[in-house]
Amino acid sequence: MPPMSAKQFARLARIVHEDTGIYLAETKRGLLSARINRRLRALRLADYSAYCDMLDQPDSAEERRALLVAITTNVTAFFREAHHFDFLAQQVLPPLLAKARSGGRVRLWSAACSSGEEAYSIAMTVLEAIPDAARHDIRILATDIDPDMVLKARAGRYSEERLHGLSSARRAKFFTAAPDGLAIRPEVSELLRFGELNLHKSWPFSGRFDVIFCRNVVIYFDVPMRQNLWGRFASVLNPEGYLMIGHSERIDGPAANRFRAVGTTAYKVAQDRADQSN
Ligand SMILES: C[S@@+](CC[C@H](N)C(=O)[O-])C[C@H]1O[C@@H](n2cnc3c(N)ncnc32)[C@H](O)[C@@H]1O
Repeated sequence: MPPMSAKQFARLARIVHEDTGIYLAETKRGLLSARINRRLRALRLADYSAYCDMLDQPDSAEERRALLVAITTNVTAFFREAHHFDFLAQQVLPPLLAKARSGGRVRLWSAACSSGEEAYSIAMTVLEAIPDAARHDIRILATDIDPDMVLKARAGRYSEERLHGLSSARRAKFFTAAPDGLAIRPEVSELLRFGELNLHKSWPFSGRFDVIFCRNVVIYFDVPMRQNLWGRFASVLNPEGYLMIGHSERIDGPAANRFRAVGTTAYKVAQDRADQSN
């Protein structure tokens, strides 16, 4: 395969940005070509320009999805950045439990769930705090742009090596044996709803969220897209709602004053501003 030229890289980076909001710096040229070489071989295309031409065709939706699958970084783990789950258990869930027990609606959102570990970690934390959660109106929405990841997440099956970070008590309580590792128990899955969702497109929700986890994804976005997202999160959170972000991320831009830090990379919507844009 001839090396990817700067022009070809710029064309591909523009397409990726258009579709996903992911910003690829020129330093990512090698990474991008390594990730899409397999697509070029599978499609028997001579070079990256031919691939760009294909992506620019009106009927390119399927290949654009394949490109997206190839370029997304899906690294995740159960109870990754564990302090968020401690915070959830100690600070966030107690008042939500009271709300749920009095018939209220409780919604949590894993907004870039990858293969599901983050969403299931939220569900396990909820079940530890509220064992009868399924009898109340408590749901966890788990979404990702990558259709392959959403399928994996929904399947809820994990090989032994993906389970590091999980205590033996949690393994026993929330998983059952599966031929290729462990499978999430139905009483955990029933709290979850999975779907494909591009954070930069419209969000088909009618209600608001009590908690949003959007961790380790905005690092891939450019500044305007990232800052726009903070404002959108503030607008779909309940007045007492929380936003958890990744360890190397920060809330910046015009929407920053709509949040206040309440823990390590944990934020609460500033109460008097929650309804600003509604
Ligand atoms: C590194 S993983 C983070 C997973 C999890 N949140 C965590 O912290 O462990 C980043 C995820 O963001 C997803 N993603 C990238 N761009 C996205 C977009 N525009 N909308 C929704 N998800 C996106 C990727 O597909 C990937 O699964």
